[in-house]
Amino acid sequence: MTTKLLRGRTLSFLRTPYDVNDHGSYRFEMDGALLIKDGVITAVGPYVQVKAALSEAVEEIDHRPYLIMPGFVDLHIHFPQTQMIASYAPDLLGWLNTYTFPAELGFSEAAHCQQIASAFCDELVNNGTTTAAAYCSVHPGSVDALMAEAARRNMLMIAGKVMMDRNAPEGLLDTAETSYRDTTALIRRWHGAGRGRIAITPRFAITSTPAQLEAAGLLVKEWPDLHIQTHLSENRDEIRYSCELYPGARDYTDIYANYGLLHSKTLLGHCIYLSERERDVLSETGAVAVHCPTSNLFLGSGLFPLEELSRRSRAVRTGVATDVGAGTSFSMLRTMDEAYKIQQLLGARLNPLKSFHDMTLGNAVCLGCNDRIGTLAVGGDADLVVLDSSATSLMALRMAKVSSLAEELFMLQTLGDDRAVVETYIAGNASKSSRSRPESRSAQESLEARPC
Ligand code: GUN
Ligand code: ZN
Repeated sequence: MTTKLLRGRTLSFLRTPYDVNDHGSYRFEMDGALLIKDGVITAVGPYVQVKAALSEAVEEIDHRPYLIMPGFVDLHIHFPQTQMIASYAPDLLGWLNTYTFPAELGFSEAAHCQQIASAFCDELVNNGTTTAAAYCSVHPGSVDALMAEAARRNMLMIAGKVMMDRNAPEGLLDTAETSYRDTTALIRRWHGAGRGRIAITPRFAITSTPAQLEAAGLLVKEWPDLHIQTHLSENRDEIRYSCELYPGARDYTDIYANYGLLHSKTLLGHCIYLSERERDVLSETGAVAVHCPTSNLFLGSGLFPLEELSRRSRAVRTGVATDVGAGTSFSMLRTMDEAYKIQQLLGARLNPLKSFHDMTLGNAVCLGCNDRIGTLAVGGDADLVVLDSSATSLMALRMAKVSSLAEELFMLQTLGDDRAVVETYIAGNASKSSRSRPESRSAQESLEARPC
């Protein structure tokens, strides 16, 4: 049995904070400690108390003055888009056809899948993200590679093979039958194997025929505990085209509802332009609208109406995600910075306590996994991030004038990125500092090989 004691400023959320003064929404210890046994948190509290209760000497890791928090949770990210992040395109459909689909064609090769799976998990860990809901490519081998890599690191990874049987290059198309068969085989191979989970993943209405959405609906009936992930209402052209392809549907949301794809474990990326009727449907089904701020800005998709969705009497559940590679950073700190700015443009304010709640407990609740992750509660998995609020010279300068925890968190989200992540623990294992640098051609060599 491996036991370790982490010491630092511990912070975790108990519920959604109402405002910056909602001190009852979180637990903070200036000199706190976590006792971890075999990857599980077994004691938490003030350092002196946790230390005094120990019956034997244990390894002690002193992270003071850093913050120790539950690891970040990313609710929507595309693993095959790791290497085509930052591709220059005018909008969603142009970006998909010009860069994304060609990049995903490469995932027919096992070696490429393994290389990018390793780089993808490195980026997550580097940025303090310990759990992600990830889209793979259409190829089952891409799921095998990601799940194997996540299992090697003992990460709680939720992933699915995208089901897509039209409106994409030939090499990216499955059929209703093969997508059903392949997803079933992946569920049997990976779901519940260690910390791995499979999500049913019809990419979006444009790339699925009615027969394929029916197959997805059948999978949902057969595996009611699985997450479902897809895209909804991201871009006006996408909405128009989706409704043309499904003329019998009342609106875009109705397409998914008609095939039984909306329930409390459904994660719907974007949800920018929903009508009142569609919002009611999401509220009734408990499906989660996932805000992807850096992606929405990068593709010029639109501004996520967070206040309108969450403040209405029939509230819609919301979460937050990077959506790499339309999203421009793996960092949940960068993501919340952009989320804040989007709300500013809409005349609303995101309070920093809520931002840090959303990246941790909030997203874990959206996944229905808050019994294991997103908190520092005893019995939970020791998936943690250690954050340095003075990571850069500018942050250190600013930190000297910070006078409250909320102010510190706001500064951390506004100026922070992977440099602020001192360490990432996955099931109790320090995983950032132990990371070996990936082998790559030298920068000079690759520049020389590039056409002018
Ligand atoms: N809609 C369908 N596929 C995608 C994708 O890969 N990224 C984004 N942002 N939207 C999508
Ligand atoms: Zn996406």
